Amino acid sequence: MEEKLQEKSASFTDFMQLLRRTRLNRGLFIFAIVLTLFGTIGSLIVPLLTQQFIDGFDTDMFSSGIIALIISVFLLSAILDGVSYYILARVGQTIISRLREIVWDKFLRLPVSYFDRTKSGESVSRVVNDTAIIKDLITSHFPQLIGGIMSVAGSVVILFVLDWRMSLIMFISVPVSILIIMPLGRKMSRISRALQDETAEFTGSVQETLSEIRLMKSFNGEAYERQKGRSGIRRLYNYGMQEAKINAFLSPIMGTVMMFVIILIIGYGGLRVAEGTLSVGTMVAFLLYLFQIIMPMTMFAMFFTEYNKALGATDRIIGILDRDEEADAAEMAAEEKLQFRTLEFKDVHFGYGEDTPVLHGIDFRAEHNRKVAFVGPSGGGKSTIFALIERYYDVLSGAIEIDGMDIRGIPLGPLRRNIGYVAQESAIISGTILENITYGLEASDYTREEVESAVAKSYAKEFIDALEDGLDTEVGERGVKLSGGQRQRIGIARAFLKNPKLLMLDEATASLDSRSERYVQEALDELMEGRTVLVIAHRLSTVVNSDKIFFIDNGYLTGSGTHRELMETHEMYRIFTEQQFG
Ligand SMILES: Nc1ncnc2c1ncn2[C@@H]1O[C@H](COP(=O)(O)OP(=O)(O)OP(=O)(O)O)[C@@H](O)[C@H]1O
Ligand SMILES: [Mg+2]
Repeated sequence: MEEKLQEKSASFTDFMQLLRRTRLNRGLFIFAIVLTLFGTIGSLIVPLLTQQFIDGFDTDMFSSGIIALIISVFLLSAILDGVSYYILARVGQTIISRLREIVWDKFLRLPVSYFDRTKSGESVSRVVNDTAIIKDLITSHFPQLIGGIMSVAGSVVILFVLDWRMSLIMFISVPVSILIIMPLGRKMSRISRALQDETAEFTGSVQETLSEIRLMKSFNGEAYERQKGRSGIRRLYNYGMQEAKINAFLSPIMGTVMMFVIILIIGYGGLRVAEGTLSVGTMVAFLLYLFQIIMPMTMFAMFFTEYNKALGATDRIIGILDRDEEADAAEMAAEEKLQFRTLEFKDVHFGYGEDTPVLHGIDFRAEHNRKVAFVGPSGGGKSTIFALIERYYDVLSGAIEIDGMDIRGIPLGPLRRNIGYVAQESAIISGTILENITYGLEASDYTREEVESAVAKSYAKEFIDALEDGLDTEVGERGVKLSGGQRQRIGIARAFLKNPKLLMLDEATASLDSRSERYVQEALDELMEGRTVLVIAHRLSTVVNSDKIFFIDNGYLTGSGTHRELMETHEMYRIFTEQQFG
């Protein structure tokens, strides 16, 4: 907890730079602030008018005129308040939308490795909460601060003009308040900063647990999760209580100081009124101004807290904006050049972390119209090879070449557009089956017939036709749930429709029953025509009819050849196939 309290945060300059990126409409913003100031001027005039009004009681000359004036000042400042509130809200909504756009766009361009390391709940908190904090500072706390300063400064000047001796007495309260507010305010802002961090962490962990709820249920993880939840909730409670303690201190002390000053003013003022050196109206005006000074004072303390919160939010947002994006090459002149005739790994070394190598000097070549299979023990690095081809990650050394071109020189768009990747756990998004199959494609890229043919080929037609709305059935979070095999066939249909030049299947038929598998296998064989196909094989049938098999063992490519060749030459392969495929 102490560590968190001491965390360094962004500076004012960083904050302003971030703000500049939202292309805030400065003219409109300043206009709103000016309106706020007019509102404040209005509230500064009211006590003066009240003074006139009260002192005019005995003469009853100006009374009705002054009443009308007071009312119109009230009305006018109410209207100004409303207008400036509206404008500020509008500026605020623009700021928050722009910030969210910036952060969201950034997220979409961050490399996979970022998401490997970050809980998704924390990222959610960046887009949703941190942007809101910054907006609040600019469009709510900052105008309040300006209005407050104006109100305090104006009141002080008017008071001295009205009666300087009374004013001096009243200002005893200022240093006292500052002495109390400043240190507490500083502590408060540290706590609320820590509270924010803790809240983000808590959100992240709640989200994680909820998304893996089946795991918890099937392994009786309730007790563990209860404990974890409790300790997070407890920490939040503690921060909340620390805040409460400070507030419990602050508000009665401020109240007492205020009461004390009021009593002083009334006492001393009463004396002066009796003496005849002060009018009753002036005394009432004094009390009214007193409120206009003390109210903003507490707000100043709060502004300090909010400002620090906003710096914290800025820090976290900048932390994301400053991250390296996926390295992308400049747009290629002719995308058609990318034929995927050959795919070559040249002495590729790779590791997810600096000091944990996963692939050691992988060398292989795959060709057009050929089917290449990868087999080997679990954790050997097969899926990693696919991730490198998709350029989710970049190689540490060596190179991956397509048609003799280093893939780091190929823009991500064309590269990924030409690759069809069917992972074991096919991802399903909320939406209709049609939207799932056509994900990432423009409406002009396909026809309904093509979708239907892809569905038929991927052996998904049977189960889709059985659904009430067929292709238009809602699936995922807000619709029917699909089985593992069904999801997979959607994934395969997606790949069919995309018609890629390079097809990568990671355990693509692993969760199908043998009849479906045979059909899908046939369909895949058809799909393989005229393209390069890489499969991670978990079935003997896939392996046997491959043109070439690479055996990946613990990050090393230890053998290659056809099934027959490997059976003869590669001892590990023979043992592996016998164990694996029976
Ligand atoms: N995103 C990741 N971050 C860090 N390490 C990873 C990541 N993905 C995989 N690894 C590690 O890299 C190694 C190779 O994993 P990979 O998924 O490539 O194996 P695999 O051969 O596909 O295994 P399987 O047959 O079980 O699917 C493993 O030791 C794994 O722990
Ligand atoms: Mg794998």
